[in-house]
Amino acid sequence: MTARDATVNWGILGTGWIASKFAADIALLPDARVVAVGSRTLDRAAEFADRFGIPRRHGSYEALVADPEVDVVYVATPHPFHVTDALLAIEAGKAVLVEKPFTMDADQARRVVGAARARGVFAMEAMWTRFLPHMRRIRELVDGGRLGDVRSMTADHGQWFAKDPEHRLFSPDLGGGALLDLGVYVVSLASFFFGAPTQVVAMSEPTFTGVDAQTAVLLRHTGGRLAALLATLETRSATWVSINGVEARIEIGGPFYAPAPFRLVTRDGKVEEFDLPHLGHGLLYEAAEVGRCLRQGLRESPIMPLDETVQILEVLDEIRRQIGLRYPWEDAPSS
Ligand SMILES: NC(=O)c1ccc[n+]([C@@H]2O[C@H](COP(=O)([O-])OP(=O)(O)OC[C@H]3O[C@@H](n4cnc5c(N)ncnc54)[C@H](OP(=O)(O)O)[C@@H]3O)[C@@H](O)[C@H]2O)c1
Repeated sequence: MTARDATVNWGILGTGWIASKFAADIALLPDARVVAVGSRTLDRAAEFADRFGIPRRHGSYEALVADPEVDVVYVATPHPFHVTDALLAIEAGKAVLVEKPFTMDADQARRVVGAARARGVFAMEAMWTRFLPHMRRIRELVDGGRLGDVRSMTADHGQWFAKDPEHRLFSPDLGGGALLDLGVYVVSLASFFFGAPTQVVAMSEPTFTGVDAQTAVLLRHTGGRLAALLATLETRSATWVSINGVEARIEIGGPFYAPAPFRLVTRDGKVEEFDLPHLGHGLLYEAAEVGRCLRQGLRESPIMPLDETVQILEVLDEIRRQIGLRYPWEDAPSS
């Protein structure tokens, strides 16, 4: 796909919860369509394809990435499989949008980024929050100096999940735990506004399966900026953000990671409310950015650059080191 006005043809890899939200959102974009879906079984691919009116269905991920009709593959499997699924698509010459977290750790991310660059294909982490209308407006306000010197941020992402050992969020084999699923949002948010941290301090409590139930993180950034972050899968927290500048703060009353209203509160208490319109679940904005990049011949997005994705995973690696969170394959004896 090279023409500037061409329609982007998506292939969806995996047929779970987020894949269905993504398929529904792509239908809202005028210049994109889902042309194919791939599943580990043909039955599930067919069921998904019928549900969303997708013309081509494949009973393996290999067949999906080999489909000549597909321009870009959306990787929507649990995080431990992102590295192999993304590499599969890249090696087939496809652009990739990979669900968050991009991979389980920074080493895996470097492999995917290296392969995409070597093959000359587009790749991006699906950190959808960055592309949402409210977050782009907040970024404009911060960059435009409305907050003055920004000194700190607090952010939390908490969801309640029933304690089911089979559920992806609790399963060590499926890369479960609060940090990688929910903490990635708040670490990425701090990175978006403050860049890479210079110091990381973390503490955590495990859940009954051994992965982290809740993890709190303090980050120090250049210029003495601080971020206080929390991720939990034990409680539905406020999912609230405050970005604090010397002239004003921005409050996102939650859920900050999805389309949400927000307010700017000046130091002397004047309040300006913002409530921007949005379409669908909100995933179409990241998909639109992929389309924009492909049409312009870009191999990565300036809004979610690949080096920053690697840097965010380095921070998550350091947090995991401090809280002792390891996954089964990391302790498996090498053969
Ligand atoms: N952006 C967001 O808001 C958001 C929200 C939720 C999740 N996510 C991310 O999206 C990814 C998928 O999450 P999800 O909640 O959609 O998961 P899910 O509902 O469990 O679906 C995952 C899909 O991956 C495929 N898969 C491949 N190997 C698997 C295995 N060994 N076990 C289970 N499934 C396997 C399955 O599709 P087939 O059976 O068809 O092959 C399955 O339907 C995660 O990395 C997560 O962090 C993002």
